[in-house]
Amino acid sequence: MAALDNDALVAVIGAGAMGAGIAQVAAQAGHPVRLYDTRPGAAEQAIEGIDRLLGRQVEKGKLAPDSRSVIRDRLQPVDTLDALADAHLVIEAIVEQLPVKQDLLRRLEGLCATDCILASNTSSLSITSLAAGLKHPERVIGMHFFNPAPLMALVEVVSGLATAPSLAATLYDTARAWGKQPVHARSTPGFIVNRVARPFYAESLRLLQEGAADCATLDALLRDAGGFRMGAFELTDLIGHDVNYAVTCSVFEAFYGDFRFQPSLVQKELVDAGRLGRKTGQGFYSYTEGTERPEPATLTSQTSVKRCTVEGDLGALQPLVERLRANGVGVTERAGTGLLRVGDATLALSDGRLASQRAREDGLRNLVLLDLALDYASAPRLAISHGAECSAVALDQAVALLARAGLSACQVADLPGLVVLRTVAMLANEAADAVLQGVATPGDIDLAMRAGVNYPRGPLAWADQLGIGYTLNVLDNLQRSYGEERYRPSLLLRRTHAEGGRLHG
Ligand code: NAI
Repeated sequence: MAALDNDALVAVIGAGAMGAGIAQVAAQAGHPVRLYDTRPGAAEQAIEGIDRLLGRQVEKGKLAPDSRSVIRDRLQPVDTLDALADAHLVIEAIVEQLPVKQDLLRRLEGLCATDCILASNTSSLSITSLAAGLKHPERVIGMHFFNPAPLMALVEVVSGLATAPSLAATLYDTARAWGKQPVHARSTPGFIVNRVARPFYAESLRLLQEGAADCATLDALLRDAGGFRMGAFELTDLIGHDVNYAVTCSVFEAFYGDFRFQPSLVQKELVDAGRLGRKTGQGFYSYTEGTERPEPATLTSQTSVKRCTVEGDLGALQPLVERLRANGVGVTERAGTGLLRVGDATLALSDGRLASQRAREDGLRNLVLLDLALDYASAPRLAISHGAECSAVALDQAVALLARAGLSACQVADLPGLVVLRTVAMLANEAADAVLQGVATPGDIDLAMRAGVNYPRGPLAWADQLGIGYTLNVLDNLQRSYGEERYRPSLLLRRTHAEGGRLHG
């Protein structure tokens, strides 16, 4: 199925942040675009705004001066809906209210040709519900851009129950022709990104609520060890807590209160207080002038360690051994169960159990658990935890060993799965459930998380790399520790493990 021709008229309804961005993308791709908004003057203002943005691209040498005027001339503000009658594709980006959008679609159905595509940029409403009651629900589809639309690559092409498959193929190809990275999704709550990303925020909020560490430390760990662009607190401060909390609540309600999506009281309190993040000057952090961002709490050691012993296969942690060697630490290897010994201390990659529980169950003394890192060969920081039985001397030796590899250790309280590990396990779990429920393919889900929210690795590919058995064990241990539905592993993980397969086939 081919993309829409360049000369096909695109109508954008709603000239707010998203509508303006989408109009710019379509015009830059070569389409004539008409922009309509019920607010008088809004469409004109949006086009002036687009022209200013294009001007900045010209100044930076990213756009030829001639192209600016050509693109500008493709954009036409209109002040009646009737002026959109000959559009080939209508994309609505109006207020996020089902009855208002349904009413608009009904009016468009009476106005536009029968082969005109009616697309919605909704981020939370069901495409199936939007199309219900129309004479031709098969031509209604979701075309979900991310903010800011001209910069963000991802477009979720969302099919409702009645959407014609050929239409999804056309919009997919059109989005690609517009320079975007499209993915297919079935209309289910949160589509791909707003569903699979929920644990990224939820696990940090929970860790904070349970006193794992402070915001700055948890954020630094997700950045420096997890390889995420931002930690959950700085990111939600940027998004706005009202917006982020509302998305969580809407997904939670849409899944009939499934605890996997349960909103956080910590975030609710910020919303209640009006501490919405950057836009109000205060969220988890303060944005008033002169306020410095707190530093992460890092452990230091005066101890000098020269040798360590590796017992058995350390699993994902193995690259750390090469890093220690490269930094002059003597490494003795012997058979064992995947432990790293230094002085009195025993170090191990977390398996989702509490340090205190694992020390007792496995008969290990002075156990220090290490968190997951995206890349142990280069990460500058790592979370560690230990139980009450661990001596101060052993902890100090563990910190000294990590320091020899150039790793700053951040202590978190003895909670299951530390920080990066439980976040990644829960992201993979949600992604696996979305695959199980036919929301999208594994490839499209991973792509969406990388292109839509800049994750350093797709959650499913991450689980494949860690091993499905290991990921499943972490989730089983999290569920046992908390005794909560929230951490129940997806059936797809269990089945893939039993079959000895991989999530990416
Ligand atoms: P916005 O509030 O900036 O803009 C909405 C515009 O629609 C306003 O200019 C308003 O005057 C106009 N409008 C309202 N009712 C209308 C109607 N019946 N007919 C014509 N125009 C009407 O909102 P924003 O942020 O641009 O969001 C628009 C849509 O995009 C929503 O469905 C939202 O869920 C979705 N979305 C928003 C994202 C974001 O980050 N802001 C990201 C992806 C999707």
